[in-house]
Amino acid sequence: EMMKELSGLHVLESKLKDMLNLSEVIVVPGDSDQDVWVKNDMGKAAADRLKRQLSAKNIIAVTGGTTLASVAEMMTPIQKGQQLLFVPARGGLGEKVENQANTICSTMAQKANGEYRLLHLPDQLSKETYLSLMAEPGVKEVMELIHSAGIVLHGIGDAKTMAVRRNSNPSVLQKLEEEKAVAEAFGYYFDQQGEVVHRVRTIGLQLDELQNSDFIMAVAGGSSKSDAIAAFMKHGPKKVLITDEGAARQLLGRS
Ligand code: BG6
Repeated sequence: EMMKELSGLHVLESKLKDMLNLSEVIVVPGDSDQDVWVKNDMGKAAADRLKRQLSAKNIIAVTGGTTLASVAEMMTPIQKGQQLLFVPARGGLGEKVENQANTICSTMAQKANGEYRLLHLPDQLSKETYLSLMAEPGVKEVMELIHSAGIVLHGIGDAKTMAVRRNSNPSVLQKLEEEKAVAEAFGYYFDQQGEVVHRVRTIGLQLDELQNSDFIMAVAGGSSKSDAIAAFMKHGPKKVLITDEGAARQLLGRS
């Protein structure tokens, strides 16, 4: 805390909170684009903040990504008497196994002494497959848990970076370029105004269902993600952001 006072991080936090209309912001020192350990520091800050939010029974929906993987690594055992259940926010989105929501769920559960349920789904779903999978009892059950998640933990990505990382086909890449997509979260792509311009069809939490959760925490940093963070945050409701100084300074510098 003293380090934070000295480096003026609290000032950045309160300015960002106002600028992005958030309920809370935590800024860790450094820029995760420059130094890899900064991502772990964001992970630690997110894991600590999550712990303060826990009640007796908790259902937590999580997305994938390298940042959420860092949050998972930093998780520590919960107190006795608390129950934790982790579920993936959405099904397959074309990530490597280590960055998939399923993997992150199981790691979080293991580190925190909680439980988890998974969604086993292919990445690219046709409309027919999507509809028939939705009718599967096993899928339905996990879907119900996802819909009752009081806590949502998610990453935010740069649109182009995410589309390329997911091996999206050329027509999707072209569409994102034409629509000037800058941000990605939950498999949705957003333009600078925070409007959805494309989405990956998969089972799980849909964007408009986010408002049913009490606590939505985004973990995203690195100066290169500043546009993505600003765009996604234009989408209500009020959220919590864990970020780094690199992203924070870049965001504030352009206002
Ligand atoms: C993906 C999530 O797995 O990770 C995305 O599905 C998110 O919604 C992305 O934007 C962020 O990845 P990273 O590696 O930048 O934390």
